Amino acid sequence: MSSNFQIHPHPSGTGADVTGIDMRHVPTDDVIDALALATAKHCVLRFREQSLDEAAQVAFVARFGKPQGHPAAYVGGKRPEGAERDDVFYLTHGVDADLDEEGRNKAATELHWHTDLQYMPEPQVYSLLYGVEVPPEGGNTEFCNMTAAYDALDDAMKLRVGGLQATHWYVRKIPPVTHPVVRTHPLTRKKALYVSPGLTRRIEGLSEQEGKELLELLFMHSTQRRFVWAQQWRAGDCVFWDNRCTMHRRLALDPNAKRVMRRSQTVGEPVLV
Ligand code: SIN
Repeated sequence: MSSNFQIHPHPSGTGADVTGIDMRHVPTDDVIDALALATAKHCVLRFREQSLDEAAQVAFVARFGKPQGHPAAYVGGKRPEGAERDDVFYLTHGVDADLDEEGRNKAATELHWHTDLQYMPEPQVYSLLYGVEVPPEGGNTEFCNMTAAYDALDDAMKLRVGGLQATHWYVRKIPPVTHPVVRTHPLTRKKALYVSPGLTRRIEGLSEQEGKELLELLFMHSTQRRFVWAQQWRAGDCVFWDNRCTMHRRLALDPNAKRVMRRSQTVGEPVLV
């Protein structure tokens, strides 16, 4: 495809819109390199008015790394009729089995901030979420810039967290893992905080209380609005993020609303100190 595309950073300092790319046409190497760097720099890229089927979505993601299934796929969602691949999965609300006895969504409440597969020894790098069907309001996805959050720590705190390791855990069938609290991005060489309220359980070498207090402080610091950008969904939107420098969460939505999102991701890599 042509490399006639543009990146428009959001004024908030997190996220950018990309125009001039039809994601159905697999980009050339130079476009992929530019997009990878832009994702590292802005944390998340948004491509609007896309029209992706499963195969096109996976083909796009595959240019950034080997597509990977999700170890906990369908824990909270139903595989829609016709969904056939293991390298995509659906996050659904208001679709058959997700409804309670009164016909409302069981999972319409806000999700915790998290970074994808942080509980794996080699956490996945890129995630792509495509809005198949979105409600008129609610269910925004918020992204937090963990590079900016790290940069804004004072020197004493940078020194304090610099050598620490944190343990992350998700569900019983997947054993806990430990990663550095501060990681270095391999493309930008910039440091980012790597803890999340949804998945980080303790800091190694600190008492339970001390670790809890430090984590609370880091969570409050990094989720300040100045580090956050909110994606308000339109059908056909595609957001593509780099889990090495961001965390995200979905906001609550109307329990009667229907929302169908299709996600894919690339394999993980070791966390760089
Ligand atoms: C996710 O946490 O990957 C889901 C985000 C969303 O559904 O908006």
